[in-house]
Amino acid sequence: MPRPEVIAHLNRLYDDSDDPWDHRASPYEAEKYRRTLEAVGPGPFAHALEIGCGIGELSRRLAPRCRRLTMMDCIPKAVRAARTAVAGLDHVEVLLGAAPQELPPVRPDLILLSEVLYFLTPSEIESLAAWITQAGTGTVVAVNWTGPTDEELTGTAAVAELARHLPLTETRSFAGFRIDRFAPRTGSG
Ligand SMILES: C[S@@+](CC[C@H](N)C(=O)[O-])C[C@H]1O[C@@H](n2cnc3c(N)ncnc32)[C@H](O)[C@@H]1O
Repeated sequence: MPRPEVIAHLNRLYDDSDDPWDHRASPYEAEKYRRTLEAVGPGPFAHALEIGCGIGELSRRLAPRCRRLTMMDCIPKAVRAARTAVAGLDHVEVLLGAAPQELPPVRPDLILLSEVLYFLTPSEIESLAAWITQAGTGTVVAVNWTGPTDEELTGTAAVAELARHLPLTETRSFAGFRIDRFAPRTGSG
């Protein structure tokens, strides 16, 4: 599992609110989702994986572009909310689990990391990159707030960590956030 203090912090946030980052109502989040989907492209993706899906607001917008979508989050309350957000979508599955320790046995052609990388340590980001490389995934899109975080890493530092292990091919900068695309080398797995 990730560091206990990170899990405790995330559990506390979800105990205090069913939408800790105002994903459902914030115009800023809506604009970020629009830009994210623009960067992801129309698909269709054979099998997309969203790591750290939160309450599923971005995932439910991504779902129509995917033949199959797996979402995961390490906090049970987030997973319950995400399952409600995508209820009735038979091609979508929501898993309880932490990256990189509990990644599912899938070979996605898109991995979406939206506002999740800075919760990981540099060594967890390295393990995540190794998993992505062996999975032979098509593309990785990372979205990160560029302001200060309460975590060890900022969004920009977390992107730099991932870029030490995977080729960074594109960066789009916006007010308050950035979207980066990585095109992993094909692994042997
Ligand atoms: C800020 S929310 C982003 C939610 C969603 N991706 C979005 O952009 O709307 C970050 C989510 O990542 C989850 N998370 C943090 N670290 C994680 C990890 N190591 N594995 C899985 N989920 C994680 C948190 O529980 C939280 O729900």
